[in-house]
Amino acid sequence: MNRQPDLTFKHNLKNGRHGWLRLTPAYSIKVVEQLLDRVPDVTHVLDPFSGSGTTGLVCAERGIDSTLVEINPFLVWLAGVKTANYTSDDLLKTLSIGNEISHRVKSQQHGHFWTPPISNIERWWSGESLRMLGGIHGEIDKLDPNPAKNLLLVAFCRLVIETSNAAFNHQSMSFKDASVQQLSFEEMRPHRFLELVEEITRSAEYPLATPVEIICADSRQIPTPTSTLYDCVITSPPYPNRMSYIRELRPYMYWLGFLNEAREAGELDWQAIGGTWGIATSRLQQWQADDVQIPGFQTMLQQIQQSSPLLANYVHRYFVDIATHLTNLKPTLADGARLFYVIGNAKFYDTLVPSEQIYAHLLAELGFLDIGIEKLRKRNSKKELFEYVVTATMPD
Ligand SMILES: C[S@@+](CC[C@H](N)C(=O)[O-])C[C@H]1O[C@@H](n2cnc3c(N)ncnc32)[C@H](O)[C@@H]1O
Repeated sequence: MNRQPDLTFKHNLKNGRHGWLRLTPAYSIKVVEQLLDRVPDVTHVLDPFSGSGTTGLVCAERGIDSTLVEINPFLVWLAGVKTANYTSDDLLKTLSIGNEISHRVKSQQHGHFWTPPISNIERWWSGESLRMLGGIHGEIDKLDPNPAKNLLLVAFCRLVIETSNAAFNHQSMSFKDASVQQLSFEEMRPHRFLELVEEITRSAEYPLATPVEIICADSRQIPTPTSTLYDCVITSPPYPNRMSYIRELRPYMYWLGFLNEAREAGELDWQAIGGTWGIATSRLQQWQADDVQIPGFQTMLQQIQQSSPLLANYVHRYFVDIATHLTNLKPTLADGARLFYVIGNAKFYDTLVPSEQIYAHLLAELGFLDIGIEKLRKRNSKKELFEYVVTATMPD
């Protein structure tokens, strides 16, 4: 089995709204499409870990009602902008303001611009890029909230990545050699922002068949559905692999005002399942839980603990959280609802964490039926790491 990049976020980059922002943990629209093909009669899909909104956007394109739940407010905002319908007036306004802003910023080479309170910000962007980003941000910030402002902010986020020294495409995000990557202010400034605005406006043109409900909430306590119970769950929860979403999202979140100081990033990650950023790590050190009754689970934790008590706590807390999520999910589901969890296994030192089997076990304990585990793709060069789809059915 190969790594099948068409089943990852890489496939989405070529696909209109799906490719607006490159987020590593996003899954491919193909995965969602293939799963939806298996349940042609579903009416209301839930994604309790919705990230950038891939599930909701595919459902909206197909005319299926969907509800997304996500704990990170920036991702809630992004999914909302990606899944909104825009009038031709909104789109014309976006283009005309984008044009004005790029001309205004071009003539303002000097002066003071706001930049976000990211520590060592000069590692992320050169002085020239910061001046350009600060100028554009200042202009967008003056606008009243409206759909055109949202689209301009998406274009701005794209520029934030394109001008950055950070390589965003790997979980251990690294800094590039600045002398190789950087485009100068002069090369970049006159046209790139406008090009991005044009690209995003073009892909916002096609109308979506159904609106998407997006809720900023914790999926360990799923909110009660506001309309019908869900008859399908399609989701990709965090994997127990120490990937911190906040790490990759920090630049956008600071620029767009979702984060104002470093501590907030750690606080948010502590709320997220599997988060270990900043303060989340020291809290994890002190964290204690009751036993989890899963065959082989204690032995697995003890093995990890021999190398790292912190990582053993990490894995333990992760599955306690997932068990809480699945327990509280059940009352929101219609009889016969179909569940699809796209999940990766993990390995710490020599100990394999068979996430797919643990999910299957937790679902069986809760009384779900027809539980299955399907191998989706190989994750990276390590031979034991795979992505799986764990499937189940809500009993009648
Ligand atoms: C693997 S990502 C989902 C990516 C998504 N499928 C996409 O295509 O963008 C998992 C998501 O779960 C979110 N998350 C983590 N803990 C959560 C919680 N307790 N409640 C809701 N969302 C949570 C993370 O912020 C992250 O966006």
